[in-house]
Amino acid sequence: MYRTHTCGELRMQHVGTEVTLAGWVQAVRKFGSITFTDLRDRYGITQLYFNEQLNERLDATPTGREYVLQAMGKVIERTNKNGKIPTGDVEIEITDFKILNAAATPPFTIEEDTDGGDELRMKYRYMDLRRPTLKRNMELRYRVNRSVRNYLDTMGFWDIETPFLIRSTPEGARDFVVPSRMNEGQFYALPQSPQTFKQLLMVSGYDRYYQIVKCFRDEDLRADRQPEFTQVDCEMSFVEQEDVLQTFEGLFKHVFRDVKGVEITDAFPRMTWDDAMWYYGNDKPDIRFEMKIANLKTPVYGKRASEEEPSHLWQGAFPVFNSAETIMAIAVPGCAEYTRKQLDELTEWVKRPQIGMSGVVNIKCNADGSYKSSVDKFYDGDRLKAIAAYCGAGAGDLILLLAGNEGRTRKAMSELRLEMANRLGMRNPDVYRPLWVIDFPLFEHDEEANRWVARHHPFTSPKPEHIAWMDDLSKYDDIKANAYDIVLNGTEIGGGSIRIFHRELQEKMFAALGMSKKEAQEKFGFLLGAFEYGAPPHGGIAFGFDRLCALLGGQESIRDFIAFPKNNAGRDVMLDAPSEIDDVQKKELGL
Ligand code: AMO
Repeated sequence: MYRTHTCGELRMQHVGTEVTLAGWVQAVRKFGSITFTDLRDRYGITQLYFNEQLNERLDATPTGREYVLQAMGKVIERTNKNGKIPTGDVEIEITDFKILNAAATPPFTIEEDTDGGDELRMKYRYMDLRRPTLKRNMELRYRVNRSVRNYLDTMGFWDIETPFLIRSTPEGARDFVVPSRMNEGQFYALPQSPQTFKQLLMVSGYDRYYQIVKCFRDEDLRADRQPEFTQVDCEMSFVEQEDVLQTFEGLFKHVFRDVKGVEITDAFPRMTWDDAMWYYGNDKPDIRFEMKIANLKTPVYGKRASEEEPSHLWQGAFPVFNSAETIMAIAVPGCAEYTRKQLDELTEWVKRPQIGMSGVVNIKCNADGSYKSSVDKFYDGDRLKAIAAYCGAGAGDLILLLAGNEGRTRKAMSELRLEMANRLGMRNPDVYRPLWVIDFPLFEHDEEANRWVARHHPFTSPKPEHIAWMDDLSKYDDIKANAYDIVLNGTEIGGGSIRIFHRELQEKMFAALGMSKKEAQEKFGFLLGAFEYGAPPHGGIAFGFDRLCALLGGQESIRDFIAFPKNNAGRDVMLDAPSEIDDVQKKELGL
């Protein structure tokens, strides 16, 4: 037997017990003729005490960091207790030990805060995973996985696997492809998601399906994106949007409670896509704080029939505002005291290429009720006061205004809002503010390719009252879909829709996306065919499992919640993949 207990298990009640532990040497401390060693495993750390006699043996066969050691001895009470670790009241007085394996000097310290850089830690990921930080993340991921499965099981969902070697499913990214040896010159695609399979399972009558499944997308990587990532993929039959939202709101509440002990009793707020863009500048609003965008001028006003553009606020002498397509503002609480230097620095911030603005206008709402602005020259005090009132700014607030072209300005304002909230510490990772964003547009115009693409995917159903508009290109921008996203603290963690389930409408959708009948039949004949054999009404959702875990772990990057992730260039630096393959292999594959 290698061990009787784990390194995280022993307490005062075990004093006097003979035990055997096995684990990795965390640290060795020599004091003259005696030695203390910290032994670590997944469960914790226990101090080993080598008395003089054992010490001689230890000197003859020295152990170092990360040696694998088996140690036998008796649990004794420590004279010098360590309140920082659960086993800190006891130590093991060693009677015998055995080195199970030696270890080379680790390339970085296996500590909470390591001295190893990113690439080095990725290269030796198996050692990085020994660090408490990563171990906690892996444990959290496992707990979220259990919790999700438990909930879906009690709700009657079946976990059904779907294939990885498939034909491309469009989810908006490029496919990873796999050459087929048996069908020379032909390729499988790895699924960007199991979308069409789960719909086929609905046609098969398996009306509640889920899968915690790998998806593959060849897209540019960011902190919250990996080329292979995991989804909690779900689909239900005989449901409307409301049923799906209720079921999965329940799932989130269950997971928050189970994993974080956070009880969310209120219904998740719902926001239309239009409002999210209007007030937050993006479709994944962080609602942990307010600081909503005030729209002073925008072409979008034409579409918000109930609202009138407040042109009296900006019309006048300031040429930049007169000529800009869009003007928008946020009122940053308590920042009226910003210094010249801080404001200059903000200007530099908005000028960065990622933000792309030429400057930022400010209005300080002073505590004494007066206003001071970088555009004082153009607007008098009354005008500044009126702008401040429109922006909902109070005494002590700093109003920041951006002007320019609609798309870029809205995006920049959304970034500026988040940046100011970061500076003010308003994005507390321990606060969870989920919401549903609903009523997404069905289409999106791809400027580069100059064509309409599906904003979610081509299987998403339009709002029934907008179906007729699919025959009128000028209406495409206004067609809304039965599509929804779940957003948590400014991150999109899931998205789904009610699907099209009639062949005619699906064909109409493919046609709207510029697909010929022939092409639609070639690519999606299997689905169109299935819709002729009794397809039930259905809809579903998929969550980014890595993203959910990272957020529950209080972080934005998903990388350290994945055991073996890829780096920013999409490489596995440990395996050194992707790599060349040899000529024989290539020939066999007909490449
Ligand atoms: P969607 O494409 O919105 O929907 O993906 C669902 C969720 O998956 C996560 N996600 C990612 N996570 C990490 N790395 C990536 N590269 C990545 N891409 C997406 C996001 C996202 O919200 N089949 C549809 C779902 C449906 O309609 O039911 C789909 O895949 O959190």
